[in-house]
Amino acid sequence: MTFNLITTARAVPDQIITNSDLGKIMPTSDEWIKQRTGIERRHLASTETTESLCIDVAQQLVQANSIGPKQIDLIVVASMSPTYSMPSVAATVQGAIGAENAATLDVNAACTGFVYAMAVAHDMAVAKGYQNVIVIGGEVMSKYLNWQDRSTAVLFGDGAAGVLLALNEDGQDHYLGDAFKTFGEKGRSLMADFRPNNSPFAKPVEADSYLTMDGHQIYNFVIKKAPVVIEEVLQKTGLTLPDIDWVVFHQANARIIQQLSKKLGLTAQQCPINIDEYGNVAAASEPLVLNDLVASGQLKPGDKVLLCGFGGGLTIGASIFDYYN
Ligand code: ACO
Repeated sequence: MTFNLITTARAVPDQIITNSDLGKIMPTSDEWIKQRTGIERRHLASTETTESLCIDVAQQLVQANSIGPKQIDLIVVASMSPTYSMPSVAATVQGAIGAENAATLDVNAACTGFVYAMAVAHDMAVAKGYQNVIVIGGEVMSKYLNWQDRSTAVLFGDGAAGVLLALNEDGQDHYLGDAFKTFGEKGRSLMADFRPNNSPFAKPVEADSYLTMDGHQIYNFVIKKAPVVIEEVLQKTGLTLPDIDWVVFHQANARIIQQLSKKLGLTAQQCPINIDEYGNVAAASEPLVLNDLVASGQLKPGDKVLLCGFGGGLTIGASIFDYYN
């Protein structure tokens, strides 16, 4: 059974908020944000929702490939900010595009979500013989942010992007392997959306529902642990970093990506960064990079791509695939 990444699409809110715009509502500056994170602007939802952005992406994927929605067998959405807990975003996307034969599920692994979603999609497709599979990362992070807290509010953005995977006939599986690690004991260093149980039978609990983050702890954790997971996926696939054309890191902070590249001996050319445009869009950040690479013609058939996601959980995941369309 063999799978190719056929195409990509993205949908981001029209509204662009620059660092200077944020400087008007909180004590921050373009200089601080750019220097510490690499972010220059972010797209923030006004009327858009995670559902509407993901539907937009799915519609583009289907239209661009002249496959009918009935030919889609599986839709997987990675999101930590679904519009509702129920129905899943994937189910809503399925209904909106009329993919009446598609199985659907959401995957929540925060910023590692897209790496997990690709693995789930690939493995289900291989096990069940699916022909066409949509995988989307979509987030509206802005609804979780405390807009009085400059240490988190400036970091995140909203958006969605996704890929269409399709069965091919060449007899080789172009998804080469993956590796995942979770450090649940550190999970409280990055939390969002606590929902109190208001049942008359529950004891009231006070807790912050906004996103909270220990930035230093996560920074150090990622620099130390992401290379370990990357090494594991390289060993599993029998590859070395010079074999990899593109390393698509989760776009949490340009400095993290630069430091990881240096530690691993990667070139800047191998590690695309688009956090300047989107901020940290959690599970949508890696497909947004993939979409940029495909749209600009930089990603060429046969290129090897290593995805590396990290974040809430705390989780880290890495996978490698060959790009053929
Ligand atoms: N504007 C101006 N000043 C600020 C801002 C701001 N927006 N935010 C914080 N500061 C101040 C702080 O108050 C502090 O001031 P002080 O020295 O007077 O106390 C100073 O700037 C330095 O703050 P630090 O927290 O030390 O800044 P740092 O250089 O560590 O950068 C950052 C903070 C950007 C959050 C960094 O630690 C980071 O990127 N961490 C990792 C984040 C991450 O990877 N998250 C995981 C993914 S998210 C997910 O999974 C959903």
